[in-house]
Amino acid sequence: MLIRKAPEFRYSQITPRDVYFNRRTFLAAGTAAIGALATSNSLFAGEKLSGVSKSPLSTDEKPTPFDLITHYNNFYEFGSDKEDPAANSGNFRTSPWTMKVEGEVGKPKVFDLDALFKIAPLEERIYRHRCVERWSMVIPWVGFPLNALLKQVEPTSKAKYVAFESYYDKKQMPKARGTGIEFPYVEGLRLDEAMHPLTLLVVGLYGEKLPNQDGAPIRLVVPWKYGFKSIKSLVRIRLVEKQPPTAWNLSAPNEYGFYSNVNPEVDHPRWSQAKERRLPELSSRNTVKFNGYGDQVAKLYTGMDLRKNY
Ligand code: MTE
Repeated sequence: MLIRKAPEFRYSQITPRDVYFNRRTFLAAGTAAIGALATSNSLFAGEKLSGVSKSPLSTDEKPTPFDLITHYNNFYEFGSDKEDPAANSGNFRTSPWTMKVEGEVGKPKVFDLDALFKIAPLEERIYRHRCVERWSMVIPWVGFPLNALLKQVEPTSKAKYVAFESYYDKKQMPKARGTGIEFPYVEGLRLDEAMHPLTLLVVGLYGEKLPNQDGAPIRLVVPWKYGFKSIKSLVRIRLVEKQPPTAWNLSAPNEYGFYSNVNPEVDHPRWSQAKERRLPELSSRNTVKFNGYGDQVAKLYTGMDLRKNY
């Protein structure tokens, strides 16, 4: 990321606004009370999602409070400070919405909002979320495996990669200019990564529809990769033959590669990736390779040099 602040972030940056979280209450509350706050209905502005089953693929780690997940964001279309997306995305129009799926597929499709929520049964997946900037959270996403969508469109034998594109509208996103990356935000995965059962299309969190700042109405989540792979507010998915461009690699190719697997052994050129801070905790913990999902995903990279393919 274009870190303007010191990469070793300070506590003031992770509890930035008492409009969403009274700092003194927070400090006095202790973890149990924070958990209670995070599940209090009064904090939810979103619409409840029905028919959501609990996934066995969830971690049993404690979810990060809702207010932190929704007020400490990266969504450069709405500005580059962590509190900008919540402050500036309130009027973002996410309905009507369409997401096109095209390219090397037998059955290209355009999904409207209704269709997006019916692609597959919704599951709650509590995943670790590790940003390249060394903070992490635990997020109870609601979504369905990307592979359910990809199977519907029938990838051809030429499809080797999946390219993703976010919505972009200068009028609705005037703060995007000057953030240092190109828009629309784009991302990509190899087809086998995209088909992996852990790779999710997300439409909600904490049982509610996704707030705008978290990538409404639909985003990608790839839990073993740094957070920037998890592209928000998707409008296009294209199956392609060649490795597609990605927003952060276009901006700083020596810092952000295509694979971007969480890896404590491979430093970012400007900082170590060995440790992370699980917000809102103050202390650091060791980062785990593939963000702790190695048993499920390490085999995707057998024989690959992960230093070269960073
Ligand atoms: N998607 C779009 N369209 N624009 C962005 O700026 N930021 C990425 C990713 N997806 C970004 C994006 C980065 S850098 C991170 S760390 C995650 O979103 C943050 O997701 P969160 O705000 O839900 O924690």
